[in-house]
Amino acid sequence: MKLFNYRKPYDKDSLSIDEIGDNPIDFFKKWFKEAESSDQIIESNAMTVSTVDVNNNPSSRVVLLKEIKDNSLIFFTNYKSKKGKEIDENPNICASFYWAPLERQVVFKGVAKKTSESYSDTYFKSRPFSSQVGAIVSAQSEIISSYDDLLTKYDNFLKENKNLDLKRPSHWGGVELVIREIEFWQGRENRLHNRVISSLSAGSWEHNILSP
Ligand SMILES: Cc1cc2nc3c(=O)[nH]c(=O)nc-3n(C[C@H](O)[C@H](O)[C@H](O)COP(=O)(O)O)c2cc1C
Repeated sequence: MKLFNYRKPYDKDSLSIDEIGDNPIDFFKKWFKEAESSDQIIESNAMTVSTVDVNNNPSSRVVLLKEIKDNSLIFFTNYKSKKGKEIDENPNICASFYWAPLERQVVFKGVAKKTSESYSDTYFKSRPFSSQVGAIVSAQSEIISSYDDLLTKYDNFLKENKNLDLKRPSHWGGVELVIREIEFWQGRENRLHNRVISSLSAGSWEHNILSP
């Protein structure tokens, strides 16, 4: 399958370094709101998180951003999953957004840490009961014998725990990516895209333009 002719012009907007302002996280919030308001973007908070294992093999997968808090991005996952184990071994991670209808990409790099137990509890409680059960019965990233077995496990758990106040499993909770670098990308004509990289250095943000 050759895709040589797949090509789309980018001409919707532009980005100059002066637009970023003092705090690139505030600028990200502005772009995020624009992505949220676009009726062509279904899950503006879906981001691809990349981790690296002990043998330096990278893995990426989509998770949902649940809060932009101070200097960090927060998502929730199973700490015993592949990504959870990799973060334990190497907390340097990357998270990226691609909002195709806006011709924009944002790439974050930083260091991951677990959120506090109480923060994870609060979020777990806010989830629908069915999602809480899903998190409890799924040993994320483990090989299972069949999908039907998982459904049976789910149904049995529901029968035994109907209307109970469920406790968050200790291996499930928030991951906080403490941001140290953000790159904003805006598609432009003739592949001469705008790229601005903001790096945290000695407590203040430094902005630079990158060649596309
Ligand atoms: C749109 C979308 C949203 C997802 N959100 C999450 C999430 O918030 N947390 C999560 O652990 N997995 C989420 N997943 C599933 C992950 O992509 C992945 O399959 C799972 O976390 C296991 O990854 P791992 O085996 O690399 O640890 C989402 C998948 C998609 C496509």
